[in-house]
Amino acid sequence: MLEYDLIANWYSTDRGATAGVSEALAVAATLPAQSRMLDVGCGNGVPITEALVNAGHRVVGLDSSAGMLAHFRANLPATPVVRADVRDCPFASGSFDAAISWGMLFHLPRSDQDRALANVSRVLKPGAPFLFTATEIEGADEGGITGTMNGVTFHYYAVASYRTLLAAHGMALVDVHDEPGVSTYYLARKWPFDAANPPGTKLSSSHSARIVVALDGPTDHFRQ
Ligand SMILES: C[S@@+](CC[C@H](N)C(=O)[O-])C[C@H]1O[C@@H](n2cnc3c(N)ncnc32)[C@H](O)[C@@H]1O
Repeated sequence: MLEYDLIANWYSTDRGATAGVSEALAVAATLPAQSRMLDVGCGNGVPITEALVNAGHRVVGLDSSAGMLAHFRANLPATPVVRADVRDCPFASGSFDAAISWGMLFHLPRSDQDRALANVSRVLKPGAPFLFTATEIEGADEGGITGTMNGVTFHYYAVASYRTLLAAHGMALVDVHDEPGVSTYYLARKWPFDAANPPGTKLSSSHSARIVVALDGPTDHFRQ
């Protein structure tokens, strides 16, 4: 994404070290060691890709910004990363045990989020979780809004219902967690899976205990 090329150096110094990390690790903790995880819109890889690698998983980064990826390769030289657009995700179907996407989806208009989610769903294995940040507003304006980061204009788009959009691509929305002032997190899972006993969920660890297993509708927060 060209706009991120323009702010790649600034982003490295401005992005906080914690946003999204505990949520990503909560998902990672539900997976077997060495699981294949895709970080969609991985940026420079710090802190989220790095945390997933350190948690013992085989992580692959994907991002469309050459500038952000230059930082990624410097930060995580041993971690595979591809320059690609999530709308045309260049991986084989069923390649990943989980996917994470922090701070990316809301840059895409709704029709492009549709394409992005179709691709993420395609590359996930059945039962795999997908944790992403985004904004949901009923009756969301297709035109979105603009904002600036370090003087560069960015576009942001909300979606009316992720439950509906995810369902169109074979995924279930299993929870929504709002961290005020930081992000709203959406946890989805690719069908088919045993809804009463989602794959890999271990409620004994404090991290994974935050992953909701109930599927009767989104809750305000991940279970504490
Ligand atoms: C706010 S940054 C988040 C980076 C990283 N996930 C983090 O937690 O710091 C958004 C990233 O999404 C990437 N991005 C935006 N649109 C994309 C697309 N269509 N395909 C792949 N990456 C995209 C941008 O290049 C940028 O690196």
